[in-house]
Amino acid sequence: MNIIIVGTQWGDEGKGKIIDILSSQVDYIVRYQGGNNAGHTVVVPASPAGGGSKEYIFHLIPSGILHPGKTCCIGNGVVIDPAVLLQEINGLKKAGIRPGGNFKISCLAHVIMPYHGKLDQLREAKRANKIGTTGRGIGPCYADKINRCGIRMGDLLNPKIFKEKLLDNLKEKNEIFKKVYDYQAFSFNKIYKDYLGFGRELAEYICDTQKLLSKAIANKKDILFEGAQGTFLDIDFGTYPFVTSSSATSAGACTGTGIPPVKMDKVIGVTKAYTTRVGEGPFPTEFAGEFQKIMRSRGKEFGATTGRPRRCGWFDSLLVKEAVSINGISELALTKLDILDELKAIEVCVAYKYKGKLFKEFVPDPEVLKGARPVYRQIPGWQSPTAHISQYKRLPAKARSYISLLEALSGADISMISVGSSRAETIFV
Ligand code: IMP
Repeated sequence: MNIIIVGTQWGDEGKGKIIDILSSQVDYIVRYQGGNNAGHTVVVPASPAGGGSKEYIFHLIPSGILHPGKTCCIGNGVVIDPAVLLQEINGLKKAGIRPGGNFKISCLAHVIMPYHGKLDQLREAKRANKIGTTGRGIGPCYADKINRCGIRMGDLLNPKIFKEKLLDNLKEKNEIFKKVYDYQAFSFNKIYKDYLGFGRELAEYICDTQKLLSKAIANKKDILFEGAQGTFLDIDFGTYPFVTSSSATSAGACTGTGIPPVKMDKVIGVTKAYTTRVGEGPFPTEFAGEFQKIMRSRGKEFGATTGRPRRCGWFDSLLVKEAVSINGISELALTKLDILDELKAIEVCVAYKYKGKLFKEFVPDPEVLKGARPVYRQIPGWQSPTAHISQYKRLPAKARSYISLLEALSGADISMISVGSSRAETIFV
């Protein structure tokens, strides 16, 4: 079975935990888009051998690496900052996990260069309409890919080709830095030396992952395609321009790995029991005032990558219904239900009102989204803890009603409910 996991909101839906749980059921786990703008947090329970539970934050390597015997790949659709990737590999080694023959990087994945990060930050500083980028060079790296001047992981293994490409890039980029941003030029020698060094260190992992995965499918192996960010950060279907620069929807799993759509069996959407967003952009159901702070602190809503506070709001069923349609989602994994435990009443957005018009479906028009007033359906809160509950029928009746309402409004069944950060705090419906 080949399963794609996608976020149905603006990222940070808790995909890391769901991917970690499903990883035990597959042979291969593949990241297909984004870069180190993403952050997945996984909490591994204490082992019988002793020691407390451990928290791991992954930016590039699939969290499946924590499961012995699985092969983890970074697909061609991902953009890689090799220094960050090496840090992550070394961090794992220190924790006693040694990525070896079970870790592969696509030779076609594009490399984030030092000028990409700088350009991202300088461009953002100049923009009137800021995006709230993570400043990691993601957008400029994807722009070079589309502009056909990008440098790929395979190039780092070939000094002659790398030299040609880097010289060409610096010739143009250093002019832009000087003339547009009044910023100093990047040194060819330093980048050339550093990045060939990264190439040497990563060489053992770099290969043709498309062939590897294709053969795995021919041999009836199961693959989990791990999406980063979320549907509404997708470059095409997200709330443009407040999006990331990759295809965060399920279609990205095909272009980002080279596995054709006909080989995909199922798409699971991960959705938070409320909504969050980091960075700028429209967010119709955003909480106001003190309640925003309370919910942020209850949900520990701070970015795993940048530490930025996340904006929090009520569940927006228009978003999730749209995500179900765009991604072909047949099942949803609902996360962080426990964060709503104490609330007296819970609101669910069922429509938007804009200039006297009622919208019952998501509207891709940024102007409408910016001015949209949410229409809510209020339901009573269950006001009792859910974190210890492991069976659906043991959930409070009001919590079950909330879940049924979300299913009815979004048009997909909820097959998993997460009520805490550890693997054990999960209800399988
Ligand atoms: P970029 O991808 O760093 O250019 O950021 C573009 C937008 O996407 C910003 O609003 C970021 O906050 C947001 N973003 C990027 N990656 C993530 C993520 O993993 N989770 C949530 N938001 C993200």
